[in-house]
Amino acid sequence: MAQEVKGVIARGKGQPVELTTVLVPDPGPGEAVVRVQACGVCHTDLHYREGGINDDFPFLLGHEAAGVVEQVGAGVTDLEPGDFVVLNWRAVCGSCRACRRGKPWYCFSTFNASQPMTLSDGTALSPALGIGAFAEKTLVHSGQCTKVSPAARAAAVGLLGCGVMAGVGAAVNTGGVSRGDSVAVIGCGGVGDGAIAGARIAGAAKIIAVDMDPRKLEWAKGFGATHTIDARSADVVSAIQDLTEGFGADVVIDAVGRPETWKQAFYARDLAGTVVLVGVPTPDMQLEMPLIDFFSRGGSLKSSWYGDCLPTRDFPMLVDLYQQGRFDLDAFVSEEIALDQVEAAFDKMHKGEVLRSVVVF
Ligand SMILES: NC(=O)c1ccc[n+]([C@@H]2O[C@H](COP(=O)([O-])OP(=O)(O)OC[C@H]3O[C@@H](n4cnc5c(N)ncnc54)[C@H](O)[C@@H]3O)[C@@H](O)[C@H]2O)c1
Ligand SMILES: [Zn+2]
Ligand SMILES: [Zn+2]
Repeated sequence: MAQEVKGVIARGKGQPVELTTVLVPDPGPGEAVVRVQACGVCHTDLHYREGGINDDFPFLLGHEAAGVVEQVGAGVTDLEPGDFVVLNWRAVCGSCRACRRGKPWYCFSTFNASQPMTLSDGTALSPALGIGAFAEKTLVHSGQCTKVSPAARAAAVGLLGCGVMAGVGAAVNTGGVSRGDSVAVIGCGGVGDGAIAGARIAGAAKIIAVDMDPRKLEWAKGFGATHTIDARSADVVSAIQDLTEGFGADVVIDAVGRPETWKQAFYARDLAGTVVLVGVPTPDMQLEMPLIDFFSRGGSLKSSWYGDCLPTRDFPMLVDLYQQGRFDLDAFVSEEIALDQVEAAFDKMHKGEVLRSVVVF
C-alpha cells in the first residue's frame, strides 16, 4: 500500500516549487522507506528547479537529509526499522569497473530505489540526486542509508548527505590537503565552508576564504579561515599570492563553479599545486585559456564529485568529530524551517542570508 505524504516538487523550469501530495510505495527488494526528520536546502535543489541539471520534471526536491528507517524491503539485512540514518547519493554497487579497481568513490552504477514515487495521478517523480527528501517520507535504496549515532541532531548531520560532505571531501579526499598546506576556498556557502572546515581538520596552516559577501567571510572564519578576501574589491589572484609569500596556495578549491572563479583558482595556486572544482557549472559555460599555461604551471586539476566520499567510511567519522566538538556542524544550520518554506529558503540563499536553511519535520 502506497502511503500519502506531503512533498515539495518542481514542476517546470523556473517555476516556484509546490507543496503537494506524494505517493510513497512500500519498499521493494533492497529498498527502504525513511521517515525524514530534517533536510537541508542545497544550491543543487535550485539548479534542479532551474532546469540546470536535466529536464526530467517533475522533481521531488531535497537530498541533504537524516531520518529514521520505517520499513525495509526483502533482502535488506543491514538496516532495520528504527535505525537513524543519513541519506546519501552514493550507494556503491561493488561490482562496476571503478568498484572492482578499488576506487568505489567513482562508482558509476550507484544504487537508487527502483520503484518511482508518484503524484496522486500516477505521474512518476524524479527524486533529486535519487533521494527526494523534502517529503515526510521517502523511498530509497537501502545502500543510500548510512547509520550514524542516534544521539546526533538530525538537522546538523543531515547536511553530511550532500553539501558539507562535498566541501569537506573536496579538501580532504580530492585536494589531499594535509598538515602545513596553504589552502584557498573561493565561494563560502555550505560547500565552501565545508571545505574550510575540512582543511582545518586536515591540518592546513593557512586557510584563505574568498567570497563577494562580507557576511559569508565572517562565517567562514568560524569554520577555520585564517584570512579572508572580499572578491568585490580585491584582485583575488594577487591577494592570494600576497598571503602566500607570492607563491600561491597549495590547494585552491572553487566552490562556485564559474569560468571566472575557476580561472582565479588556477592562477592563484602555487606551481604544481592542485585545483579542485566542486561548484557545479551550467552546461552553457565555456573556458578559454592559453594551453601553455596548463603545461607550464604543472600540478593537478581535479573535479570533486560529492567530495570523493564513501558514506560508510566518512559519515560516521564526521559525526564522531561533531559529537566530540571538533567539527561544528551546527554552525551550518542558519535556520530551521517548515516544509512549505522551501521557496522562501531559495530566496534567502540567493540573497546570501543563510548558509543552510534546514526543513525540520
Ligand atoms: N560537486 C559536488 O558534489 C557538489 C555537491 C553539492 C553542491 N555542489 C555545488 O557547489 C556549489 C556551491 O553550493 P552551496 O550550496 O555552497 O551554494 P551557496 O549559494 O550557498 O554558496 C555559493 C557562495 O559563492 C559565493 N560566490 C558567488 N559568486 C562568487 C564569486 N564570483 N566569487 C566569490 N564568491 C562567489 C556566494 O556569495 C556564496 O556565498 C553549487 O554550484 C552547488 O551546486 C557541488
Ligand atoms: Zn560500482
Ligand atoms: Zn546538495
